[in-house]
Amino acid sequence: MANSFTFSLWLYLAFSVVRSSASLLAYAPSRTACPDISKYPLVHTFTITQQVLNPLERTYITDRESTVIPESWEAWLGNGSAIGYNTADFTGHFARIGIAFSGGGYRASQFGAGVISAIDARNTTAVAAGTGGLLQVASYLSGLSGLYMNNFPTIQDMVLGSQPGWLLEEDLVLPGGAADLTALENVEYYGAIVASLVAKTAAGFTVTIGDAWARMLSYHFLSGTSESNFFDPSSHGAGQLWSQIADATFFKNKQAPFLWNNSLTLPVYEVSPYEFASFDPDISAGANLTFIGTSLSGGAPVDHASCITGFDEAGFVIGTSSNVFWSLIVYQALLNEAAEDVELLQELLGSLTMRLSPNGQKRLLTRFRVSPFYGIASSTNPYSSNPELNLIDGGTNGENIPLNPLLVNARAIDTIVAVDASDDTDEDWPNGLSLLFSTERLSTLLVDSHQQLPEIPASTDDFIAQGLNLRPTFFGCDSTDTPLVIYIPNAPPLTGDAPYTNGATAQLQYQVNETEIILKQSYENTVGGFVPNTNLPDPNWGRCLQCAAVDRSRLKVTPTVDRSAFCTTCFTQYCYNTANLTSSAELPNRQLNYAGPNSKSL
Ligand SMILES: *[C@@H]1O[C@H](CO)[C@@H](O)[C@H](O)[C@H]1NC(C)=O
Ligand SMILES: *[C@@H]1O[C@H](CO)[C@@H](O)[C@H](O)[C@H]1NC(C)=O
Ligand SMILES: *[C@@H]1O[C@H](CO)[C@@H](O)[C@H](O)[C@H]1NC(C)=O
Ligand SMILES: *[C@@H]1O[C@H](CO)[C@@H](O)[C@H](O)[C@H]1NC(C)=O
Ligand SMILES: *[C@@H]1O[C@H](CO)[C@@H](O)[C@H](O)[C@H]1NC(C)=O
Ligand SMILES: *[C@@H]1O[C@H](CO)[C@@H](O)[C@H](O)[C@H]1NC(C)=O
Repeated sequence: MANSFTFSLWLYLAFSVVRSSASLLAYAPSRTACPDISKYPLVHTFTITQQVLNPLERTYITDRESTVIPESWEAWLGNGSAIGYNTADFTGHFARIGIAFSGGGYRASQFGAGVISAIDARNTTAVAAGTGGLLQVASYLSGLSGLYMNNFPTIQDMVLGSQPGWLLEEDLVLPGGAADLTALENVEYYGAIVASLVAKTAAGFTVTIGDAWARMLSYHFLSGTSESNFFDPSSHGAGQLWSQIADATFFKNKQAPFLWNNSLTLPVYEVSPYEFASFDPDISAGANLTFIGTSLSGGAPVDHASCITGFDEAGFVIGTSSNVFWSLIVYQALLNEAAEDVELLQELLGSLTMRLSPNGQKRLLTRFRVSPFYGIASSTNPYSSNPELNLIDGGTNGENIPLNPLLVNARAIDTIVAVDASDDTDEDWPNGLSLLFSTERLSTLLVDSHQQLPEIPASTDDFIAQGLNLRPTFFGCDSTDTPLVIYIPNAPPLTGDAPYTNGATAQLQYQVNETEIILKQSYENTVGGFVPNTNLPDPNWGRCLQCAAVDRSRLKVTPTVDRSAFCTTCFTQYCYNTANLTSSAELPNRQLNYAGPNSKSL
């Protein structure tokens, strides 16, 4: 009774919101005439041995590497004398760097934000520590897309700041108060969400729970929402497009690394501001992102008069690559709230998406009505004959760090920074599992299409015993056939302080003062490195990080340059070396148990 009453109230509210606010309707994709595909094919295909990047991506990288990046290296390393090199020797041949941020809910986003501020040349204390500048020399970045939808702001502005921040203090699921789902503000919130979903349905698209999730995340990670308009039926980011990143000034000027937010199922897909693509050998194709959602067969529009635009809605892209988080919420987090509220919410979103979808099937996945790769690569692509494409968060196959795009052969990346906020151990720290999963997939399925990862310990137990999840480590320092990997795990404060960065993945709300502590702890570990057998930061760490970042440049110039004495000392301390294994005992007094204010029973 109560349920259906509230449900009707919501729908009523949704429809009045629809009438009162055109901006929420912008969530729906629209139809337009197709471009001339003889000039601009909507899908490009290639082979494993001759992978072809989108020409716009190639231009982006060439431009960024010839104009922006050389200056960034000089700004970061100066003339190189502090680490024993002459920076000018490497001009034109700098190591190509990619950075990957793992997923894992708000916890991972906040940890990632703290790491970003520690490697950002715009943070003066990070620059003084020697770590600030790594972000600016990177060519590629995967994960943490919120940065790009907000004009590449500094972390202070993006998370806490004037922009007006992530608003994590507003609960993601029950912002109008956890005590009562039917509180007016909660009803207003779901009314606005439902309005967008109804608009998308009215435009002829199937909506799923993934769409509701997309709208919720948009309140926090897209621009347009502030403390004061949170419950208004204003746009809350509806209709901001992923492909519009390519139009932003900072992107046109190549001021940021090239980005993806990748979504993977068995085949792994990536979404850049240009393309929805897969470099998995069986698929080897990319589709123009602007027209994604269009019914294509063999890469050509089924109806040339009717191409879809706006399907790459930014909240939808972000939501798709984190929809595993959603299932966590529905099935775990909410179980802590009042039981009838959980039921009600499941009823609302579940029934809504069931009612609105044609066959009433409950769907947790994000669904493309028409796969852009329908009829593509039919001899190898097992999905070629399936017109539908369902996507789920890449983290579900265990590869929580989105390394895949960075390892594609054609991208020829020399050095990868892997930022790991996975929740693997009992105390919710990473233990190398994601790297082990990636190694497994790369060495079985992606031998010919992707670079392999360097050698890592054989098990998560070894990873932990060697202390590699408690401090930064360089992998593959001397390998000649893999990239060098700089691994930065979410770890307890090196100082021995009590940790705040290992809250529950499903925590849906953080007070501002908590977020500040999380940023500070992740920042301080990232600028701190470690000194064996102490709780002190390493005064050389910033320069050691510079050594690792620039190292592969030495081998790209003729004649090659020897590793400097200073960097050799750094590498002895920070490289994974099977001939000289480290031990967690060298990292004393690390407190593993979460000390923050939130319940971990989620
Ligand atoms: C490099 O820069 C340092 C400090 O800025 C300076 O002291 C040194 O003389 C420079 N070395 C060379 C070879 O120019
Ligand atoms: C650098 O980042 C840290 C952590 O986010 C922050 O506390 C500090 O205020 C920033 N410093 C500057 C100068 O921006
Ligand atoms: C994509 O971006 C969102 C928001 O920035 C983040 O929560 C998610 O973890 C990212 N996904 C991946 C695979 O990096
Ligand atoms: C997508 O198609 C449009 C229209 O033909 C074109 O302007 C744009 O450059 C294409 N984008 C990519 C990434 O190929
Ligand atoms: C944050 O502020 C609130 C209210 O002022 C206070 O109760 C709480 O203890 C603070 N939390 C932390 C982690 O400092
Ligand atoms: C082994 O590593 C330790 C630091 O972890 C270092 O002090 C020692 O010199 C290394 N030994 C060799 C033979 O490289």
